[in-house]
Amino acid sequence: MPMQKKADCVTILGIESSCDETSASVCVNGQIRSNLIATQKIHEQYGGVVPELASRAHMQHIVPVVDGALQKAGCTLNDLNAIAFTRAPGLIGSLLVGAQFAKSMALSLDVPLIAVHHMQAHVLANLIDDPRPNFPFLCLTVSGGHTQIVLCEAPLQMKVIGETIDDAAGEAFDKCAKLLGLPYPGGPLIDKYAKDGDPERFSFPEPRIEGLDFSFSGVKTAILYFLQNAGKSYVFKENAIATEEEKQTFIQNNLADICASVQHRIVTILLNKLKKATLQTGIKNVCLAGGVSANSGLRTAFREAGEKYKWNTFIPAFEYCTDNAAMIAITAYYKYFENDFSPLSVTAAARAEW
Ligand code: KG4
Ligand code: ZN
Repeated sequence: MPMQKKADCVTILGIESSCDETSASVCVNGQIRSNLIATQKIHEQYGGVVPELASRAHMQHIVPVVDGALQKAGCTLNDLNAIAFTRAPGLIGSLLVGAQFAKSMALSLDVPLIAVHHMQAHVLANLIDDPRPNFPFLCLTVSGGHTQIVLCEAPLQMKVIGETIDDAAGEAFDKCAKLLGLPYPGGPLIDKYAKDGDPERFSFPEPRIEGLDFSFSGVKTAILYFLQNAGKSYVFKENAIATEEEKQTFIQNNLADICASVQHRIVTILLNKLKKATLQTGIKNVCLAGGVSANSGLRTAFREAGEKYKWNTFIPAFEYCTDNAAMIAITAYYKYFENDFSPLSVTAAARAEW
């Protein structure tokens, strides 16, 4: 395995390809110089990410995206001290494209290879720009595939202290949006319509889950029955109260209030557990991460909770919240100084412990 080169300037290329974004980023001495993201639009027509199409699109995007990231950073291949990539978790066909590309680059340039865990990287996105949290901090990571509360004691020392036992928060937004007939990904649309709605108009049940774990599947089911019953009941009725036409009319006439109430419920589930985590750990530095942190209801509730409970709150810039390679490059920057390198035999994994 190649050793760390002696260098005054540490330049790392990060590559992210775990789902449907192909991204490359260059980090020089801990500063992000570029972060290019190619989003795959092809999945919209299928109502969700199609794994086979995602891997094919990564194959098409990876060369121009890596080239673009190097150019934007003003770097050449010879400047690179290490190549980092997302090893897990994610769609295996997507991960393999980034992993193989990174390995080939590390081999041909004779520089170390750094394997990064995607969820660890989401947390460390909070270290990209000022203001950065002091350690220890708690991070609520909310994305389409994950919902976790992470306790981070040092850049590479973190553990999951709470997570979803079923759907992720972003998945809950998307599934509820689908029930309302909205296109994929529906999370941003729920956010948009919720702005004109009354969050207290409909009261979807809050799950009773012990400890710091989350559950969102009950909310989704309650909304399913609520719509089937055209707003007259939250529970399953064998003989549906409403016809399809009544259901559609109900949705049309109440879309803003339904979206606001759904968003309110998901956000309160998240914030209640986060508050519990701060009380249990006594930690007041609290961060957000992941694509759902774009949600305006969550951002407002998070900031308000910060003021109320005297937390120091942190939210990374939006481009570092959704899937991106800058978070991979910054994580690799810390790993570089620990000599935490991987052999070329390292394999991508759909699931993996940290
Ligand atoms: O982190 P991310 O970009 O990708 C992964 O899942 O890893 O998160 C995407 C998720 C989707 O479920 C999307 O609907 C949700 O984040 N999302 C939102 C908003 N923007 C993105 N959900 C609610 N409100 C938003 N404004
Ligand atoms: Zn992610």
